[in-house]
Amino acid sequence: MRVLLIGATGTIGKAIANALTGRHEVIGASRHHSRETVDITKPQSIRDLYSRVGRVDAIVSAAGEAAFKPLDDLTDADFELSLNNKLMGQVNLARLGFRHLTDAGSVTLTSGILAQHPAPGTAAISLVNAGLEGFTRAAALEAPHGIRVNIVSPPWVSETLAAMGRPTTGGLPAAVVARSYVESIEGKMNGAVIAPA
Ligand SMILES: NC(=O)c1ccc[n+]([C@@H]2O[C@H](COP(=O)([O-])OP(=O)(O)OC[C@H]3O[C@@H](n4cnc5c(N)ncnc54)[C@H](OP(=O)(O)O)[C@@H]3O)[C@@H](O)[C@H]2O)c1
Repeated sequence: MRVLLIGATGTIGKAIANALTGRHEVIGASRHHSRETVDITKPQSIRDLYSRVGRVDAIVSAAGEAAFKPLDDLTDADFELSLNNKLMGQVNLARLGFRHLTDAGSVTLTSGILAQHPAPGTAAISLVNAGLEGFTRAAALEAPHGIRVNIVSPPWVSETLAAMGRPTTGGLPAAVVARSYVESIEGKMNGAVIAPA
């Protein structure tokens, strides 16, 4: 398959690329240092990416930023960033991507455990993750040409916890998280929220 992977240089994106390489053709995209450049906060940048890359069998997103702050400290700009970047960035990757996918292709997005298990400081990111999961379930009902739409909801990734100087117990290695994306691409599931374990 031809797989377009947005967020290919990130902690999770690199692990997905490793898991797919050798099985599929992987076209990496991000704002910097990838084969293809895209900014998911700009719909025209997404349209340009799809025009350049042409038809693909799978679109995978492991990109998206959201603010992480106590509720009382979250500014209008923090909410705007979270909604424009992680939420609408991925919604637009899906809706603008349908026409560039082969029949029975797939879209796989990324939410996160904070949708179901929030903690103090996660109001913006929990909002965005839950919104993405709702979007995925609904979009799966309307995607054309047998296209499947799923979302992976990773727990904390061990490498991320280590980079934050936090204990890695309870985290999952990125390589294990990446298997859920492979399942979504190669399997039959549709409208699923996939929790790596
Ligand atoms: N790591 C975790 O523990 C964890 C847990 C649960 C959920 N998640 C979610 O999983 C996703 C990936 O996490 P990660 O830890 O792998 O993130 P990361 O290491 O920060 O990587 C993010 C990737 O997305 C790209 N990116 C960022 N903003 C972009 C934009 N506007 N347009 C296009 N590409 C963009 C980055 O490259 P450029 O900066 O060059 O664009 C990079 O390739 C995020 O949505 C995160 O919330 C992560």
